[in-house]
Amino acid sequence: MKILQVHQLEKTYVGKVNYTALNDVSFDLEQGDFTAIMGPSGSGKTTLLNCISTIDIPSGGEITVNGQQPHSMNDGDLAKFRRNELGFVFQDFNLVHTLTVREYSTTAYLGQRSYT
Ligand SMILES: Nc1ncnc2c1ncn2[C@@H]1O[C@H](COP(=O)(O)OP(=O)(O)O)[C@@H](O)[C@H]1O
Ligand SMILES: [Mg+2]
Repeated sequence: MKILQVHQLEKTYVGKVNYTALNDVSFDLEQGDFTAIMGPSGSGKTTLLNCISTIDIPSGGEITVNGQQPHSMNDGDLAKFRRNELGFVFQDFNLVHTLTVREYSTTAYLGQRSYT
């Protein structure tokens, strides 16, 4: 079963000078896959993860997570989606220092309820 489908994803940062960080990115992940995203600094890894994890909004393309398309949801549905479908372990400043890596990766499950 496909857990993640990324289809023709594009992200352009709009500013004085526009910058296209992601251009026509497509891939699928199967449930149970363990995947690392690799590439040189500035190649778009964080931009890709931010789009998948709904921290940022793509400029084009489609992202489907567990059959749902978070970028077409209203705020309420998006909040439930984040709570039920996503887990984050950030890189540095927003980590909780008292938790180990193991605790980090299991704490979200302990807090899950069948919120509607
Ligand atoms: N908020 C932003 N505004 C403008 N350009 C950005 C922004 N965030 C990242 N970029 C640019 O997009 C490109 C990809 O950045 P990023 O996704 O952080 O790469 P990586 O995580 O692989 O180092 C870089 O050229 C970076 O300068
Ligand atoms: Mg990065």
